[in-house]
Amino acid sequence: MIRKHIVIVGSGIAGLIAALEIARQHDVTLVTKSELAESNTRWAQGGIAAVMFPDDSVAEHIADTLRVGAGLCNAEAVEVLCSEGPARIRDLIRIGVQFDQRNGELAKGLEAAHSYPRILHAGGDATGLSIELALVHAVRSAKNITVLEHTFANDLRLDAQGRVNGLEIIDPQRNERTMRANAVVLASGGAGQLYLHTTNPSVATGDGTAMALRASAVLADMEFYQFHPTALTMDGNTFLISEAVRGDGAVLLDANGRRFMQHIDPAAELAPRDIVARGIARQMAMQGGAPVMLDATLLVAKNGADFLAQRFPTIDAAVRHRGLDWSRDPIPVTPAAHYWMGGVRTDIWGRTSIPNLFAIGEVACTGVHGANRLASNSLLESLVFAWRCAAFLNEGREHDGLPGLTERPLPVPLEATPTAQRIDRTTLQTLMWNAAGIERNGVTLQQALSQLQNSRVLGASIADLETRNLLQLASVLMTASLAREESRGAQYRDDYPERSTSLQHSLLYAKNSEVSWSPGPNQNPLTASSSPR
Ligand code: SIN
Repeated sequence: MIRKHIVIVGSGIAGLIAALEIARQHDVTLVTKSELAESNTRWAQGGIAAVMFPDDSVAEHIADTLRVGAGLCNAEAVEVLCSEGPARIRDLIRIGVQFDQRNGELAKGLEAAHSYPRILHAGGDATGLSIELALVHAVRSAKNITVLEHTFANDLRLDAQGRVNGLEIIDPQRNERTMRANAVVLASGGAGQLYLHTTNPSVATGDGTAMALRASAVLADMEFYQFHPTALTMDGNTFLISEAVRGDGAVLLDANGRRFMQHIDPAAELAPRDIVARGIARQMAMQGGAPVMLDATLLVAKNGADFLAQRFPTIDAAVRHRGLDWSRDPIPVTPAAHYWMGGVRTDIWGRTSIPNLFAIGEVACTGVHGANRLASNSLLESLVFAWRCAAFLNEGREHDGLPGLTERPLPVPLEATPTAQRIDRTTLQTLMWNAAGIERNGVTLQQALSQLQNSRVLGASIADLETRNLLQLASVLMTASLAREESRGAQYRDDYPERSTSLQHSLLYAKNSEVSWSPGPNQNPLTASSSPR
């Protein structure tokens, strides 16, 4: 078989697994804009869901995933996720990930909307970090993988037939270079930095999704952004408080110290995330914007004084660092932007609509999460679909585009108007939080979209390039949100509060992007006068 050069963008679980697997057959270059170990994966707490116990079943994991996805899941992708998940977890264990054990067996955790406690965790609440470090170690020891850290992936390179043949990068010395590639795999994660409050690290700026958009890839279901119900909030900063804390029995209290979630959903604090996040947001509105309280003191009463520090060491340290003692007092929490269900449209092998371009993990939209993701299915998704993408490439199969794309995508303009005003990242994030957050409305969305379409980002630092990516993605998210005149899963429109009976995915692609994004040699498209925002 011909040995190819495959470029992977991103170093979370999806990128690292893809690199390890693809390097069995091809030469791999892995590009990451920070250190190899920095990614969204590293900060994942709760765990990874998979059917690993004899009294659980794949059918129940599938049913839970479909139910939470609010009728919009791709059933084939869900079947793949849940049925292949256990084998992939065993691969992780072979690579060296040490999941926590109890009585000599894998420890089980419960999280919201799971009908069975099937969540594996490591280091208590340091699951993502444990996985990331084991995979980084494996990648650093592997043959055929070249790692380029502190290297920013700027744009995809396409040949005259519209096939991906390389990647434009900015190296650590700020030189712009083009890398030739037989295929590019986007594993660049999500874009929590779209919002003022997020659980995501600063690297989550949607660079891969924006590159794919500019290359005219089809994106899907971009309106569906998940808000995690519980982020510790203090002085405008947020820190994720894992779903697993509520899974173990912590409850939410209003400003008067009373539980409120049981009036909203029979599953109370363990209802799907969209329901709990909306319930909290409404409760906060009723109490003048003050955060609700998460009471974990019950867990201490039940399990002993050291329980929180032992089961949730990362959260315990973060809470105490902020001067709080959650073993004695409830702590203030609010929802925060967490995970993008939408992304670059792919099939179950990671193929996008552009030949030789693959996408896996949060940057992709296989449709596996539908309109709302089940807790702890994201690490599993990255693992399963990275492995499948690698299998596709290693079998020597050709990627000639996405078969079966019969729907007509909605075009989104990318070019800035001549009168566009400068926008900075905080203004953009505030606009997104207010207009495209947990509850939305057509009038507010339209006003915000008009403002975005009359905005541009000035400057060419890496931070500016990231903000430009965020601006383009914000337009796409709002366009999709306006087009979906219904409330479903993570999208709640107060002008369309009901679920529509006509079920469809939203598909978008960039209009005029070829004109805007085809710079001459050595010309930086982001500073050229004809450049889009
Ligand atoms: C959490 O620990 O609550 C986050 C896990 C997830 O996003 O699924």
